[in-house]
Amino acid sequence: MNNTSAPYKNILEVEHVSNFYYDNGLGIFAKRKKKQVLDDVSLTIRDDEFFGLVGESGCGKTTLAAAILGMIPYEGTIRVGGKEYSKTSRSEFTKVVQAVFQDPLSSLNPRKTIGYTMREPLRAHKIGTKQEQIEAVNVMLEKIGLDASYADRYPRELSGGQRQRVCIGAALMLQPHLVIADEATSALDVSVGAQILNLFNEIDAGADFSMLFISHNLNVEYYLCDRIAVMYRGWIVEQGTAEAIYSHAKHPYTKLLLAAIPDFNPPKDDADDEGEVLEVARADVPGACRFYHRCPHACDKCLTRPELVNIAPAGEEEHLVRCPVMTENLK
Ligand SMILES: Nc1ncnc2c1ncn2[C@@H]1O[C@H](COP(=O)(O)OP(=O)(O)OP(=O)(O)O)[C@@H](O)[C@H]1O
Ligand SMILES: [Mg+2]
Repeated sequence: MNNTSAPYKNILEVEHVSNFYYDNGLGIFAKRKKKQVLDDVSLTIRDDEFFGLVGESGCGKTTLAAAILGMIPYEGTIRVGGKEYSKTSRSEFTKVVQAVFQDPLSSLNPRKTIGYTMREPLRAHKIGTKQEQIEAVNVMLEKIGLDASYADRYPRELSGGQRQRVCIGAALMLQPHLVIADEATSALDVSVGAQILNLFNEIDAGADFSMLFISHNLNVEYYLCDRIAVMYRGWIVEQGTAEAIYSHAKHPYTKLLLAAIPDFNPPKDDADDEGEVLEVARADVPGACRFYHRCPHACDKCLTRPELVNIAPAGEEEHLVRCPVMTENLK
C-alpha cells in the first residue's frame, strides 16, 4: 500500500487563472452582473513544499481551492501532478490531491463511525483487503494522535480538535501528494489549532506531501509554510519566502496584515515605517490597483493595473510585489 514519494518537480501549477460568478440582480428585470473573483492568478507549489495563501475574507482563497479541486469552472490552466483535472479521471485525481476544510463536523458523516469514514478512501480505490484497510486505519489513528479505540466512535463523541484530526487522517489515507487545507484551524481554540498545526508539521504520512495552506492569519502561515502568497481581491499582491513576507514585506496590504498580528514588531530595517499610516479610505477607481481605495501610498502610478515585480537579488528566491510605488527603486 506504499506510495513512492512525489515524482513531480512541481506538484501544483496554477497559470493565469481567472474566474467569474454571475450575481442575480434584484427584481425580474434586473440584469445578471458578471463578477470577477480570481484575476490572473499564477503560482507554483513544489514537491514537499508547504505553501501559504493568506488574505482577508472574500478575497478568493476558497475560490482558488475550489478551482484546483476541479469544483468550479475557470479560465487559465491548473495542473496537479503535471496533469489538468479536466483531462484526468476523478479517481486518479483524488489519489493525488485531498482537502481538509474548516468545519470538521460537516465534513464527517454523523451516522458513520470514524473507522468507516477513514477506511472509505481505501474501499473506494479498492486498495488492500478489508483486514489491511482496518489495520491501515489503526496505524493512521495512532499517527494523528488518537488510538485504535476511536475507530468505533461517532463524530459527535469527539471534540472539535479530534474531529479535525480525523479529517486530516482521512485525507492522508491515500497518501496524496498535495493537501489543500482551507482554514483548517480557524474554527478551533488557539491551543487546539496549534496542536493541529504541529500535526501537519510532524505527521509521517507514509510519503511526503505538499500543502496549500489557506488562512487569514499570517502568523500561522509563517509558522508552517516555506513560501507565502498574499491575496487581495483576487490578485496575488505579494509572494515570497515566509521570511521575506514576515520580515521584509513590501506591499502596503501585507504590512496591514502584519500590523493586525498582536505583538508583531516591525523588523529593524523597516524602522522608517514605524508610525506609518497603514490605511486610508477613498473611492475605487476602475482599472486602478485593487488596493487603491485603501492604500496610503496611492498616487497616479497606481491608476493602471500594476504587475508583479520580482525584487529579490539575482539568484535568490523570488520576492514578487505588485506595487509600483514600493518597487520603484528596487527593480
Ligand atoms: N457561488 C458564488 N456565487 C457568487 N459569488 C460567490 C460565490 N462563491 C463565492 N463568491 C464570492 O467570491 C468572493 C470570494 O469568495 P471566497 O469564498 O473565495 O473568499 P475567501 O477568501 O475564501 O473568504 P473567507 O476567508 O471568508 O473564507 C466573495 O466575494 C464571494 O462573495
Ligand atoms: Mg474561504
